[in-house]
Amino acid sequence: MARKKIALVGAGQIGGTLALLAGLKELGDIVLFDIPDFEGVAKGKALDIAEAAPVEGFDASLTGASDYADIAGADVVIVTAGVPRKPGMSRDDLVGINAKVIKAVGAGLKAHAPDAFVIVITNPLDAMVGLMQQVTGFDPAKVVGMAGVLDSARFRHFLADEFKVSVEDVTAFVLGGHGDTMVPSVRYSTVAGIPLPDLVKMGWTTQEKLDQIVQRTRDGGAEIVALLKTGSAFYAPAASAIAMAESYLKDKKRVLPCAAKLTGQYGVDGLYIGVPVIIGAGGVEKIIEIELNAEEKANFEKSVAAVQQLVEVTAKVAG
Ligand code: LMR
Repeated sequence: MARKKIALVGAGQIGGTLALLAGLKELGDIVLFDIPDFEGVAKGKALDIAEAAPVEGFDASLTGASDYADIAGADVVIVTAGVPRKPGMSRDDLVGINAKVIKAVGAGLKAHAPDAFVIVITNPLDAMVGLMQQVTGFDPAKVVGMAGVLDSARFRHFLADEFKVSVEDVTAFVLGGHGDTMVPSVRYSTVAGIPLPDLVKMGWTTQEKLDQIVQRTRDGGAEIVALLKTGSAFYAPAASAIAMAESYLKDKKRVLPCAAKLTGQYGVDGLYIGVPVIIGAGGVEKIIEIELNAEEKANFEKSVAAVQQLVEVTAKVAG
């Protein structure tokens, strides 16, 4: 069987990590792409990872490129192009600069990779994935944003740490936009299948502790930015996007929280928002509509309103 082709647009920290993970998981041949000024970085990282392949024992062709023609026929494209925030900035502060980048990348994808499953990581995420879908005109089922998997992974890590249990036994998920208004769901998160509110009743933790973990999850990206000082998180974002790519390429049909284009679900029409979806060979095969209680609904609506506002700003700056 011919190997799949994975194009990674942006050869920065996330791009390099994506290339390594895609190689280790043998997802296919990898093209690491960046603009001509960074072609050397793309080629250097691709060669470096190719030289790690004999040690790790994976087979994949890795190339660096700056010409969109080189991503032709890609099965999956993961977009990290654009700039990360610095300490003190919000993701939304990046809208002006990154909207221009997404417009240019979208034109390249439309011309050279029209059949790809496109995963956007660039911030501000929900607005940028919406812009990507608009610029390419691709089927919304084939254009998704990586955020929920990352936010949920952070939530799971903090919970596993609190309960002193394996991360494998913690399920958690986060709804809404990938901004300060995201909605970590306490009711739908579990340890060994036991919902978090029940763990409070059992005396295993306190509501106050859970509230702190929820807030730390919301601030998860900013916590890393404050520590790194020169950029934002890259290992966990890359791992999250690779989980999405793998589910698509292997038709695993995993249920993953992703920014997907809603068409009436959750009372939202035409916006990309983080919700649980099934990802398989058809891309986003189903949007799962979970029942929200009054408080969750109010928080979700607040998050939708924030995304809507940012989409309006994006429309202005993107022209
Ligand atoms: C993250 O959550 O790590 C990313 O969205 C990057 C950021 O700016 O926080």
